[in-house]
Amino acid sequence: MLEAILNRRSVRFYKDIPVTDEQIEEVLKAGFCAPSAHGNAPWHVVVVKDPAAKERIGSIHKWTKIIIKAPVALVVCIDRSDFDHFWIDDGSAFMENMLIQASSMGLGTCWIGIHGIKPEGVNAEAVIRETLDLPDHFGIVAITPLGHAARYPGPHEPKLPEGRVHIVG
Ligand SMILES: Cc1cc2nc3c(=O)[nH]c(=O)nc-3n(C[C@H](O)[C@H](O)[C@H](O)COP(=O)(O)O)c2cc1C
Repeated sequence: MLEAILNRRSVRFYKDIPVTDEQIEEVLKAGFCAPSAHGNAPWHVVVVKDPAAKERIGSIHKWTKIIIKAPVALVVCIDRSDFDHFWIDDGSAFMENMLIQASSMGLGTCWIGIHGIKPEGVNAEAVIRETLDLPDHFGIVAITPLGHAARYPGPHEPKLPEGRVHIVG
């Protein structure tokens, strides 16, 4: 199985080492190669380097906190002004492509779900929209930190879990 898929793990602690613009671009390019419904490619991505913006988004709840110490956070958005039935699916495909690309480059990431979450009544999408000055027609799917892992849980083993594969025919 593709090594980058097995090596991709959720990294929640980062070293104080920057990532280069070239590295960021390679990761983003993978996102923009994702499949999307009707080939709409409705993605926008915000590269957040600004410490104050990371701090603000990081303060939403205990899971977003992990972006504060990472050098960069990538925010996956979808332009919902057109056909948007599959906006979560489209954004998720973009996200997963980026995570695998980052893994292949030896960089750490962690999917942080955003759409629809309201920890302690705080609307995560609204806080991010305001912090990053995003328009109302952008749906915010998820965020990932991007950086060098300070703690890495170890690669996945390929597996076919018992009873989870259903063969017809
Ligand atoms: C939709 C989605 C939302 C997630 N949200 C969070 C999150 O808010 N915080 C977090 O630390 N991990 C989050 N994760 C990562 C999962 O916890 C992680 O993928 C899972 O435990 C398996 O571990 P692995 O990624 O190392 O294989 C999310 C993953 C997905 C797919």
